Amino acid sequence: SAAEKGGYDYFMLKEIAEQPKAVADTLLGRIGAEGQLTLDELRIPPQVLRMVDKVVIVACGTAFHAGLIAKYAIEHWTRIPCEVELASEFRYRDPILDARSLVIAISQSGETMDTLMALRHAREQGATVLAICNTNGSTIPRESDAVLYTHAGPEVAVASTKAFLTQLVACYLVALYLGQVRGTKWADEILAVVRDLARIGEEVERVLETMEPVRELARSLAAHDTVLFLGRHVGYPVALEGALKLKELAYMHAEGFAAGELKHGPIALIEPGLPVVVVVPSPRGRSVLHDKIVSNIQEIRARGARTIVIAEEGDEAVVPYADHLVRVPATPTLLQPLVATVPLQVFACELATARGNEVDQPRNLAKSVTVE
Ligand code: G6P
Repeated sequence: SAAEKGGYDYFMLKEIAEQPKAVADTLLGRIGAEGQLTLDELRIPPQVLRMVDKVVIVACGTAFHAGLIAKYAIEHWTRIPCEVELASEFRYRDPILDARSLVIAISQSGETMDTLMALRHAREQGATVLAICNTNGSTIPRESDAVLYTHAGPEVAVASTKAFLTQLVACYLVALYLGQVRGTKWADEILAVVRDLARIGEEVERVLETMEPVRELARSLAAHDTVLFLGRHVGYPVALEGALKLKELAYMHAEGFAAGELKHGPIALIEPGLPVVVVVPSPRGRSVLHDKIVSNIQEIRARGARTIVIAEEGDEAVVPYADHLVRVPATPTLLQPLVATVPLQVFACELATARGNEVDQPRNLAKSVTVE
């Protein structure tokens, strides 16, 4: 009913709008007065976490993309090697796991069969399994050694939005906590990131307030067949997520690529008028990456692509090559997915509407897939 949708036409719109509160709720009660992480709820003994020599993340769909982003954070903040694998592939390749492996199963519903089978396999091998989940008491947390709930509130639309952002926040918390427990050399950075995370809800809110041009652009592209997405570093999984949203909702051919891979194949797809969304990393910090992606944008534009550039406020280098420029607030590189994903959600939702598709219930998809 309209009341359930809180005045929005679709649950998806409501859930996109709820993201600032959702990410704040994920953080609630988990950061102490001194900026330290307080995740005692995990109930994994610190000595077990100190022994971990490998993290393996298993998930499906949008949750898998959260895992891909988490890998960058976990390896950077903890220096523990981290793999990310599609849950449906995991157990069939005889993965190497033992008592020092920490397996993180990410799932909004907590009922995805592929993810459940992967975590059962991991536990059989003696690994410790931590669930990052949005649904209290669901099967995946019940069968895991520990759980960190995302507290996004119920997500009804099939295409995941607020659950994704809160999965990211939960992953960052786990990564920082691992770093804290293990006495990482990045302690100062951890405190700084915690402060940035505490502000991220407001940044997401600011992004939401500036989305009208994105909706307008989406409507203008309704007759297109293909949209490509490019990104680097954590912007690469963001590109994958942008493409997934477009497939799910707009039923368009959409693909995400690592921008550095462009020259190894995808650039052959570029033709005049093709919309290409580029997620640009911050020019501060890893500026080498930034400069490389700016030359990628130049390359595709020279071949006629219509460039839709998502870049941080104040990044002037992209301006000459952007047919459409979408600004997101400046954040530390690792946190950028929390703001950069939002325009891609709005874009896909509006394109679906413009194409007359059912936004909350896309064809052939289910909110939670309980068969393998
Ligand atoms: C389904 C949904 C996706 C979701 C995936 C994983 O395919 O349509 O939106 O990302 O399942 O779901 P989970 O509940 O495990 O996060």
